[in-house]
Amino acid sequence: MSRYRILVLGGTTEARQLAGHLADRPEFETTVSLAGRTAEPKPLPVPTRSGGFGGAAGLADYLGTEKVDLMIDATHPFANQISANATEAAKIANVPIFALCRPGWVKQAYDRWISVGSVAAAVIALGDIPRRVFLSIGRQEAHQFSAAPHHSYLVRSVDPVDPPLTVADCRYLLASGPFGVEGETDLFRFNRIDTLVTKNSGGSATYAKIEAARALGLAVIMIERQVPSAIRTVYDTEAALELIDHLLPPAK
Ligand SMILES: NC(=O)c1ccc[n+]([C@@H]2O[C@H](COP(=O)([O-])OP(=O)(O)OC[C@H]3O[C@@H](n4cnc5c(N)ncnc54)[C@H](OP(=O)(O)O)[C@@H]3O)[C@@H](O)[C@H]2O)c1
Repeated sequence: MSRYRILVLGGTTEARQLAGHLADRPEFETTVSLAGRTAEPKPLPVPTRSGGFGGAAGLADYLGTEKVDLMIDATHPFANQISANATEAAKIANVPIFALCRPGWVKQAYDRWISVGSVAAAVIALGDIPRRVFLSIGRQEAHQFSAAPHHSYLVRSVDPVDPPLTVADCRYLLASGPFGVEGETDLFRFNRIDTLVTKNSGGSATYAKIEAARALGLAVIMIERQVPSAIRTVYDTEAALELIDHLLPPAK
């Protein structure tokens, strides 16, 4: 029996969960693609490949060479470049594509959010009065906060921040989710955090920091998503599996 080949663009909890389901489906040969930025990525139950493809053209070549039947963009909602490349490559190679993307968090009563459109805007939103900031936006863009050196920073990321911030008071914490509300509350209290800076990533694995900030009445500078998905999008694993079954019917 010939098996359908599925390429999942990953680097997210959702991609890992989807891969877990697809690993149990013998009719599919699934590969998850990772950018290769994380030193020790969490293990996946299907084969992986790692590193960039070389833009949309490189990805289109890969789709053709590997005879991919379906591509699923399950990358992080802020990974805009790879998503744009995937849309373009699917067109070039004439391969069906859809996105699996968790919905963003929605502001609740007692949340003290200041919504901004970019990391640069978040730096400005911190203002002139020194704050004690918990910075949780990933390691790649954290250095932009060097432009606001009068604040104190506690920066949490999965891998070390590089380049580090050039500010007087900055400490680093390496950890990966999921996180719990009690732990996040203790962390904020112990470090006398007054402001959380985060991307509106959505999902449950890192939502505890939002709940802890709400309970403690902390300000949250929320970096909102700016680029809506240009392709058909589903929001959870179940819907993704249904769509896969629809697009790749039995007996190829
Ligand atoms: N941005 C975030 O806040 C964030 C948070 C958590 C996890 N992630 C994950 O980390 C990875 C990198 O994110 P990013 O924001 O740096 O991406 P990006 O800016 O959208 O992509 C930059 C380049 O990295 C390569 N790339 C990205 N994701 C890839 C993948 N899954 N497989 C193969 N190549 C990939 C591509 O290189 P080529 O052009 O050479 O193909 C892409 O053009 C993604 O897999 C994403 O899901 C991102």
